[in-house]
Amino acid sequence: GAPVSMDITALQEGQQLTLAWRGQPVFVSRRSRKMLDVLPSLDGLLLDPKSDNSDQQPKYAQNGTRSIRPDIGVLIGVCTHLGCAPEFKPEIKPEPFDPEWKGGYFCPCHKSRYDAAGRVFKNMPAPANLPVPPYHFEGDNTLVIG
Ligand code: FES
Repeated sequence: GAPVSMDITALQEGQQLTLAWRGQPVFVSRRSRKMLDVLPSLDGLLLDPKSDNSDQQPKYAQNGTRSIRPDIGVLIGVCTHLGCAPEFKPEIKPEPFDPEWKGGYFCPCHKSRYDAAGRVFKNMPAPANLPVPPYHFEGDNTLVIG
């Protein structure tokens, strides 16, 4: 498939836009400093905190934020369990049903929780982190997927 591009100028902190690439939704979020700061503290709770499963992201996204730019998250929006669409929950507040989860992505089908970098928590139905598609930036505000 052809690459698709997106202007991210209007994307605000804590917001997410979805675009289609190769028939799949791609979630593009702008993460706040607060959202980024919580990520390193979660490692012990996650199934694959260092993204060692190399199928799940390109090499350039194998880092603590799983992204080229820390503020911009780019993830395939398909739960790695059975393919439902995870919901973006950017708020940091702990959820009553899971005090250890500090927001990120929540799959409504069987309740898998991921952090804001798409890293899945331990003991979830989902077996892997949300995949990161190949992408790059052209200038400051154009994101190209593919
Ligand atoms: Fe997401 Fe089952 S499809 S938890």
